[in-house]
Amino acid sequence: MHPLGALVFLLIPTLCASQEAPDATPTAAPTDIPPPATETAIAVPISEYPFSAFPPPLQTPVAGVVPVTDPREPPPVGSSLIPNFAQAWAGAYQEAKNKIAGFTLEEKADVGTGVGWMNGRCVGNIPPIGENGTKWPGLCLEDSPLGVRFGDYVTAFPTGVNTAATFNRKLIRRRGLFMGREFVGKGVNVALGPMMNIGRIAQGGRNWEGFGADPFLAGEAAYETILGMQAGGVQACAKHLINNEQEHFRTRESSDVDDRTQHEIYAHPFLRSIMAGVTSIMCSYNLINGTYACENDKIMNDIIKREFGFQGYIMSDWQATHSTISVITGLDMTMPGDITFLSNTTVRICRQREIKVFSDCFAGLLSLFAVSAASPKSLHLFKLLFFLKWQVESLFLEFCR
Ligand SMILES: *[C@@H]1O[C@H](CO)[C@@H](O)[C@H](O)[C@H]1NC(C)=O
Ligand SMILES: *[C@@H]1O[C@H](CO)[C@@H](O)[C@H](O)[C@H]1NC(C)=O
Ligand SMILES: *[C@@H]1O[C@H](CO)[C@@H](O)[C@H](O)[C@H]1NC(C)=O
Repeated sequence: MHPLGALVFLLIPTLCASQEAPDATPTAAPTDIPPPATETAIAVPISEYPFSAFPPPLQTPVAGVVPVTDPREPPPVGSSLIPNFAQAWAGAYQEAKNKIAGFTLEEKADVGTGVGWMNGRCVGNIPPIGENGTKWPGLCLEDSPLGVRFGDYVTAFPTGVNTAATFNRKLIRRRGLFMGREFVGKGVNVALGPMMNIGRIAQGGRNWEGFGADPFLAGEAAYETILGMQAGGVQACAKHLINNEQEHFRTRESSDVDDRTQHEIYAHPFLRSIMAGVTSIMCSYNLINGTYACENDKIMNDIIKREFGFQGYIMSDWQATHSTISVITGLDMTMPGDITFLSNTTVRICRQREIKVFSDCFAGLLSLFAVSAASPKSLHLFKLLFFLKWQVESLFLEFCR
């Protein structure tokens, strides 16, 4: 266990106990049953999974086989070249590090937290950093896998399942490219697609967004779509991770899948997405083996980041973040960012309304992290900041209403 991780989880209840909003539920008269133990916070070790770009043995580009590739100029359709994005990722990481060097702690937290449903140009928005976005303009994340949602003069592209049914890489790539350009033209930074769930349940209400039930076909369609979209200049988002095969009870059902089936069927399109250099992945609403997708260490950290070598970020589906435990199980960005949907409870919005939500509790947590942020031991530790913010906000839900 990372000692700081344990410290934090123990400190949260201690620091915040007296600040918590009063319990609205009238409780029965106390009985002789003892109250639950006060320290109910669960301490989970911060994962130490290494990160390296896929495919791990081919970090060193090989000309004519695994060449250095810029996402804007992928190999042409039908090429036998395997793009190597390791240098692009390394460059992006360096740029990001330089960029956040001048951010305050709170601004760093803002980078991983949306400002609420449609509180900006897009369905999800990372706020501008610095006055009028002078430090960084933020991000605009917009639906859908089939074209720009909520926009006028936009194209309704063919559905995923129709696209895959062409069995034509050239058309699939071109559809991706044109979607990417249209998103960029509308001011979107992150296009929330493609969708690559398998359509395991015939009644699945969103099956048509995806590429059908054949994992190989879905994988190739995801690969070509992403190469096309990112060549168009937008960040793509592989979704929904994973086993989101039905819409009925989608936030309550658990999809229980053994490891081999997971790899051979459901995860394969995600592997191909990562090979296409996808920037982001979205974890899904459902549970997997009884654990929420956005809290699933096995899926996000072990399979996606360690085994597949994913270098980008995982965001939650809208309102699929359930707790701060996610920060150590692989989630990087919470969307749309408010604690409960439409509650306007992100710190930023509270601030806009000039409601003071920062208490001694928040100040305490921040100073705790000022220490750790000064010498971040790992990416995970840094990410913990974002989620601390989220947790603190939830404590102050009442103040924001
Ligand atoms: C930000 O925008 C406001 C309104 O346009 C303006 O008054 C202010 O000077 C701007 N600040 C900076 C730092 O550009
Ligand atoms: C789900 O459980 C099965 C059977 O124990 C196991 O093979 C698989 O790896 C588990 N998956 C996750 C994501 O925990
Ligand atoms: C949330 O905040 C936005 C922007 O300030 C405002 O337009 C909207 O009405 C608010 N919604 C609620 C439910 O308070």
